[in-house]
Amino acid sequence: MKILVTGGYGFIGSFVAEKFANEGHEVIIIDNLVSGNVKNCSFRHISYIADVESPICETIFQNHKVDVIVHLAAQVNVVTSMENPYADTKSNILGLTNILQLAAKYKISKLVFASSAAVYGLNENIPLSEDVPCQPVSPYGINKLLGEYYCEKWSEIYQLNTLCFRFANVYGPRQGSIGEGGVISIFMERLRDGKELFVYGTGEQTRDFIYVEDVADAIYRACQSNATGVMNLSTNTESSVNQLIAILSGLQPIASVTYTAPRIGDIDRSTLDNSLVKTSLDWEPQFNLTDGLNRTYAWFANATPVPQKGHGNAKETTLLDEASIQNDLINSSLSRNIRSLYLSQGTNYLEGVPVLKPDVFHAVIRSRERAKQKFNTAFSLLSLDSQIMNSPSLLENVNNLLRDSDYLGLTEDGRLFILLSNATVYDAAIVVERLKLNGVASQVLTEEDRYYAKLVHEYALQ
Ligand SMILES: NC(=O)c1ccc[n+]([C@@H]2O[C@H](COP(=O)([O-])OP(=O)(O)OC[C@H]3O[C@@H](n4cnc5c(N)ncnc54)[C@H](O)[C@@H]3O)[C@@H](O)[C@H]2O)c1
Repeated sequence: MKILVTGGYGFIGSFVAEKFANEGHEVIIIDNLVSGNVKNCSFRHISYIADVESPICETIFQNHKVDVIVHLAAQVNVVTSMENPYADTKSNILGLTNILQLAAKYKISKLVFASSAAVYGLNENIPLSEDVPCQPVSPYGINKLLGEYYCEKWSEIYQLNTLCFRFANVYGPRQGSIGEGGVISIFMERLRDGKELFVYGTGEQTRDFIYVEDVADAIYRACQSNATGVMNLSTNTESSVNQLIAILSGLQPIASVTYTAPRIGDIDRSTLDNSLVKTSLDWEPQFNLTDGLNRTYAWFANATPVPQKGHGNAKETTLLDEASIQNDLINSSLSRNIRSLYLSQGTNYLEGVPVLKPDVFHAVIRSRERAKQKFNTAFSLLSLDSQIMNSPSLLENVNNLLRDSDYLGLTEDGRLFILLSNATVYDAAIVVERLKLNGVASQVLTEEDRYYAKLVHEYALQ
């Protein structure tokens, strides 16, 4: 089977993609790396770095006969959805409808959509079954519910078999600390780093924590089945934050726990009824909370700590040292931190625009080139019309289209470039299209171009 996993470089997506790859299926991933990391997927797969809402995605369907789609790519932060509903809707509605449209056009047999317990809102009549009224409170929850409606409509109109899973709080290795269900990954990082744990409220609030491999297993089964509609994906087990802390204290001594005021809008109790998924897919969660936390901590304990943004401690400051950043620049999260440090210093960007000064830009190219030599990590350069330098608003628009690990920079001889991290020439071509759709002409600078040698080997190695 050929399976397309959108958001495949993310936390859940990487487990889903790995499960299919391990079972001998062909895996294709689309991800824009906004929160995912290519390092999450070390198994064989085909990779497309693109936005799911982009028309470019059609080329993937033209190039591959996809059988099944698991659509996980999404803006995943509830707070972001409140502050920037546009961004949430762009990713979560335009992204889904684009993929649904392509699924119908290319006659895909099944699409699994990642919905969320957030569709229920503040309902504490637990365990919540699929038929209780949905009253989402955030744009994130509203868009997930709307996504379910779209899936239902596409099933009706195009006979596309769709299945929407309302995930409870998923946890496990590789989870970032900003998305849904982040409490466990936040605790894991703090536990590993010997830091105090903060709990909102009494800690008696409960959640339905489900281990990520159980989620991947249910999705795998769903893709082999005819099941359709909406299903909770959960353990149907209530676990309090205090229970969580008790288990964690058995893994590693906890520095201290501080209880703070409850957060406005947090619900006290939450569990989702999972009888439907159990009977429909002959599925049972295999990991209880203790087993899941053990596995999760084993991963976090070995993972490289990523410094947090905006706190200028000594460790982060050393990242600005050229010798020490040469390896780390290949990691986009670290690049983000480096960028925020650059921004906070205010000395590395040209005044008023998000464009790196020539010496800094050459240093970044130098770092990428070294990482490429050492680790074979690709990077690409796009040449832009330098007239854009006269339009700060256009520069800002271009900058907004880029990922945090990409850079706009000016060269010593006044030419404007974009450096795309972890990007092949193919990925760069997708960015060229994306810029074009936004009225900005650009060109990929290939290694054959004489100026490439000048930029990468002459200027940058000075
Ligand atoms: N983690 C949970 O507890 C939980 C709970 C309910 C629902 N979900 C849903 O499960 C899915 C996966 O979540 P996750 O926890 O693995 O988060 P994640 O952030 O680790 O994964 C999301 C992935 O999608 C990619 N992505 C985001 N926007 C994109 C876009 N516009 N185009 C292409 N790629 C894009 C990101 O780079 C990332 O790799 C999401 O749809 C999320 O809403 C997660």
